[in-house]
Amino acid sequence: MKAIVDPDACIGCELCPSICPEVYRMEGPVAKAIEGEVPKEFEDSAREAAESCPVEAIKITE
Ligand code: F3S
Repeated sequence: MKAIVDPDACIGCELCPSICPEVYRMEGPVAKAIEGEVPKEFEDSAREAAESCPVEAIKITE
């Protein structure tokens, strides 16, 4: 699976890197997800972060 943050939607609440710092980090005022496949062991927390985003800025693709 892959995770993508829409930089236009992200409001920089920093929730995703606090839930799953292995996949999301802040890059200036918005979050950015790692490029490429999310490592298997971080899939659950990456998904949880996406579901927790208050503005639904994180898209998960299989
Ligand atoms: Fe942005 Fe949502 Fe993460 S607002 S910082 S993508 S939880």
